[in-house]
Amino acid sequence: TERTLSIIKPDATKRNLTGKIAAKFEEAGLRIVASKRILLTKEQAGKFYAVHAERPFFGELTEFMASGPVVVQVLEGEGAIAKNREVMGATNPADAAPGTIRAEFAESVGENSVHGSDAPDAAAEEIAFFFSGLELVG
Ligand code: GTP
Ligand code: MG
Repeated sequence: TERTLSIIKPDATKRNLTGKIAAKFEEAGLRIVASKRILLTKEQAGKFYAVHAERPFFGELTEFMASGPVVVQVLEGEGAIAKNREVMGATNPADAAPGTIRAEFAESVGENSVHGSDAPDAAAEEIAFFFSGLELVG
């Protein structure tokens, strides 16, 4: 089975949506095998989103990710990476399919409630960024 990294972003934790979003993962057949609530510094957010360092919205993105608590989780299941991205919906909530997390909860293209790894190599790297092997309990 596959694993992917999910982040419930500050816009969602602030609105007390952690449980509702986690329920969407579980309803889709994904198992939460690790979970913690943390407050990132802007520098840590920049390290995590380093692939976007040259994008014009990088400053806004890292400031937002450090603006409040996030809940980082490892989701496990068959095809977990693709399944999670399906449950998340499109980056811009205006384009997200009905019933997806971003369609229901996201506020804008920037404050879009969740992050999900987009490929196996990224998933492995992102999981290792936040968790040690001992913290993953399948
Ligand atoms: P993630 O799962 O968070 O990586 O989202 P994604 O894969 O759907 O989108 P992408 O990797 O292209 O962008 C990463 C994140 O940057 C998005 O989730 C948004 O939070 C943010 N972002 C993307 N485009 C914009 C934009 O035009 N403006 C702002 N402010 N933020 C953006
Ligand atoms: Mg992405």
